[in-house]
Amino acid sequence: MISSDLSGRKALVTGAASGIGLATVEALARNGASVALNDLPGNPALDEQVKRLSAEGFTVIAAPGNAGDADSAGQMVKKAISDLGGLDFLVNNAGTPGTNKPISPADLASQDEAFWQTLLSVNLVGPFRCTAAAVDALRESKGAIVNTASIAGIVGNGSSTVYAATKAALINMTREHARAFGPDIRVNAIAPGVVVSNWDCRFDRTTEFLNTIPMKRAGTPEDYAEAILFLCAGGAYITGQTLVVDGGLTAGPSSTDKLPDAR
Ligand SMILES: NC(=O)c1ccc[n+]([C@@H]2O[C@H](COP(=O)([O-])OP(=O)(O)OC[C@H]3O[C@@H](n4cnc5c(N)ncnc54)[C@H](O)[C@@H]3O)[C@@H](O)[C@H]2O)c1
Repeated sequence: MISSDLSGRKALVTGAASGIGLATVEALARNGASVALNDLPGNPALDEQVKRLSAEGFTVIAAPGNAGDADSAGQMVKKAISDLGGLDFLVNNAGTPGTNKPISPADLASQDEAFWQTLLSVNLVGPFRCTAAAVDALRESKGAIVNTASIAGIVGNGSSTVYAATKAALINMTREHARAFGPDIRVNAIAPGVVVSNWDCRFDRTTEFLNTIPMKRAGTPEDYAEAILFLCAGGAYITGQTLVVDGGLTAGPSSTDKLPDAR
């Protein structure tokens, strides 16, 4: 894991009680930043993680709020900025698949209006809302935004067509916001591949499938957090980009590998 001196820097991470968000909080806090952890109100894991990290000596606070709700998201960001006393890094990481098993692209009936609205509101409008509420503070600090997209937003083949569409739009919004806020604020995204996390959607990840990934394993939350840390703390001339972090999955298996019959 790379390191950087982030003492005095302030960060807000959404969807931070678990997985990539939690590993990002730890990466930022271990490097000296004060971090606000956002997650859904009432999620017991949020207070548990804040308590655990505080006991370990890190400067962390809870920032409960629903990124998928206009009022809740805006108020949460404003309060976190006020509690932290400013903001240097916003990590728009909260996301949802809206399903606990992958939906075939041919299954249009399962991707109804309500499903579209939920995924759009959390995965796409959520980052927009949080960015809008944080932009003044980030301009002042000459800060950075990192959005958690997905390789599904580049090649599809994720939990659903709707999910892939929201992540593709998030990648596009990353470029739009880089143009809008430069040179004051850098705006980038990461596109994770397979993640070992509590993600609601269960994929059938056989060893045979994982062996088709050049790195021969799923990515850990720490693998993704390291890329987010780099895009926050370093990369002074990088903006508008989406860094693919997938162990080589989208590069494809070697032509001499024996492929599994079905993925
Ligand atoms: N797990 C994967 O396979 C995968 C792959 C590519 C990209 N991603 C993306 O990575 C990000 C993090 O996912 P993860 O794998 O760490 O999953 P995770 O389930 O471990 O963590 C997601 C966290 O977000 C929180 N959350 C969900 N909706 C929220 C909302 N409306 N407001 C605030 N918090 C909310 C959840 O409570 C949870 O704590 C997501 O944006 C996801 O789309 C995940």
